Amino acid sequence: SGKRTEVRPFGPEAIAAAAAFIRAGHPVAVPTETVYGLAADATNAEAVAGIYAAKGRPSFNPLIVHVPDLAAARRLGEFDAAALALAKQYWPGPLTLVVPLAADSPIASLVTAGLSSIALRVPAHPAMRALLEASGRPLAAPSANASGRISPTRAAHVLASLDGRIPLVIDGGPTAHGLESTIIAATDGSLRLLRPGPIVIDASKETRGIEAPGMLESHYAPGKPVRLDAGSARAGEWLIGFGSVAGDDSLSASGDLVEAAARLFDCLHRADSAAAPRIAVAHVPDEGLGLAINDRLRRAAAPRD
Ligand code: TXA
Ligand code: MG
Repeated sequence: SGKRTEVRPFGPEAIAAAAAFIRAGHPVAVPTETVYGLAADATNAEAVAGIYAAKGRPSFNPLIVHVPDLAAARRLGEFDAAALALAKQYWPGPLTLVVPLAADSPIASLVTAGLSSIALRVPAHPAMRALLEASGRPLAAPSANASGRISPTRAAHVLASLDGRIPLVIDGGPTAHGLESTIIAATDGSLRLLRPGPIVIDASKETRGIEAPGMLESHYAPGKPVRLDAGSARAGEWLIGFGSVAGDDSLSASGDLVEAAARLFDCLHRADSAAAPRIAVAHVPDEGLGLAINDRLRRAAAPRD
């Protein structure tokens, strides 16, 4: 935007300003007990696309959704007995639980990267808790740093890579843990450690997804062949358009990359459930958010068995 980022000390005025940005669909940086998060309304796909745009993140990884309490979490995900026991023991706190997505979940599919599971966390930090209450929205939040930079544990770290790219940072001083939350998956009757963190839990160690979360095998891929850079549909293809290439559907008729990112996984799901046996996707420019969109499209189009 070219504008400067405002830094406000944690307090009622900062929270009110941040909640107004959240409801207007803009991401804001807020401290949690682990690292500073870049939070946006998890039910608003364009707001979530704004997180990726600000971070300059070249791929869409599923994001953690922050909620005020277990009751709110259970409206978004399905908890088995083991997940419930962990939630009751460690929430609020630096534990994230990956559970099956609830059937009627209002969460934007860009948040879960189209997966049928969702990562949920009830944070303990009073600033994040106040923002959840004031905004009344579940908040998707990755660490508040530009892609490839280290996670921020102070407001100054956030500014170092995101100054001018977001409207507001709430300054709550240095974070308590300085390390991202422990992530445990409870999706198939067992517990799996996806990312070690401040809470040490005995769960069978999952080695994927720690060093390279973007490479998670569980990433959504359509069940049909996908052809990229299509100028028009061939016989048997469902065409996802972009810009001047009109299709059965469009990522963004106006060629807007934020809109395209917000619609990407919905478009892929619609194409997958259409009658046509194959999917074609129009060319998306490889710049800005287009890098992340094309990363996901290339994965969707990659040969598989
Ligand atoms: O401490 C934290 O967790 C911080 C603060 C801001 O809450 N957030 C954070 O978010 O570290 P992020 O985006 O850096 O890490 C999210 C990671 C993804 O990279 C992925 O590994 C995992 O969470 N994840 C999210 N949803 C998932 C899902 N449905 N299945 C598997 N892994 C998931
Ligand atoms: Mg991160």
